Amino acid sequence: MGMMIAPVRKAVFPAAGLGTRFLPATKAMPKEMLPLVDKPLIQYGIEEAIASGLRNIVIVTGRGKTAIEDHFDVSFELEHLLELRGRTETLEAVRAISDMIDVAYVRQKEALGLGHAVLRAKELVGVESFAVVLSDDVIDADVPCLRQLLGVYEFYGASVLALMEVPREQISAYGVVAAEPRPHEDMDGRVFRIHDLVEKPPPDDAPSNLAIIGRYILTPEIFTAIESTPPGRNNEIQLTDALRILLKNRPIYGVKFDGKRFDAGDKLGFLQATVEFALKRSDLGQAFRSYLASLGLC
Ligand code: UTP
Repeated sequence: MGMMIAPVRKAVFPAAGLGTRFLPATKAMPKEMLPLVDKPLIQYGIEEAIASGLRNIVIVTGRGKTAIEDHFDVSFELEHLLELRGRTETLEAVRAISDMIDVAYVRQKEALGLGHAVLRAKELVGVESFAVVLSDDVIDADVPCLRQLLGVYEFYGASVLALMEVPREQISAYGVVAAEPRPHEDMDGRVFRIHDLVEKPPPDDAPSNLAIIGRYILTPEIFTAIESTPPGRNNEIQLTDALRILLKNRPIYGVKFDGKRFDAGDKLGFLQATVEFALKRSDLGQAFRSYLASLGLC
């Protein structure tokens, strides 16, 4: 008999960053509200959480929080109008998401770092393991990335991070791990035991080419670890630094997930995601493909 591992029910969405790479679009609106084809980035993340069995959503908001709250709230006027006009499908699309989640908000008054943002969710999460989703990392995968991480969490009952191999010259843009592969049924070669973590190292100091991507399953001890984490890079409380403290007392695992990740918080990554998601759409794909072909790019 294995030990009982408490189920994960909650997903925390930090959305209080300044989004400086996407200014001026993010001046009055969080980057999590940027639309990919026709849905804001954060909705893709929330749909991934739902598809992974997590319906308790905690959103950490900063500036422009009303746009996020209104998006997941009922809009009586809009729904009434769509009903009057007989736009049933659109009505269902607008309604579906808010019906499926239970969402709570907490405010991060100042963007003091990702670790600090996660700590703001402490009261709402309580003493249980939870997921963290950075919705500017958009992941296209057959099995939702969070679901892949949960599989490993359910096995070890420990924190699990999403990992991706990154070319050396780009590694300094990420949190990087030193890790050793662990044999794992049906995920062989993808599961790692983490030995060290470092936030945005210079290429020569990077312990590997395995970068941390914005999906985490965290055990509640992370909150105490964040509380004892001093400001680090950019004078921000970094989640990676807190994980390093957690690692002194608890094992941490990583999963080289199966799927394609886009950095939609970056302009080029956002454009790439837009093109690929549009091409996949049954209602737009064909017309968009002909349009791209008409540009005679290749
Ligand atoms: P990023 O590292 O992408 O930072 O944050 P950023 O400030 O939002 O964007 P740039 O780099 O200036 O363009 C990663 C995630 O952590 C959240 C962000 O909203 C994003 O989802 N975050 C970051 C917070 O919620 N609070 C913070 O203080 C920092």
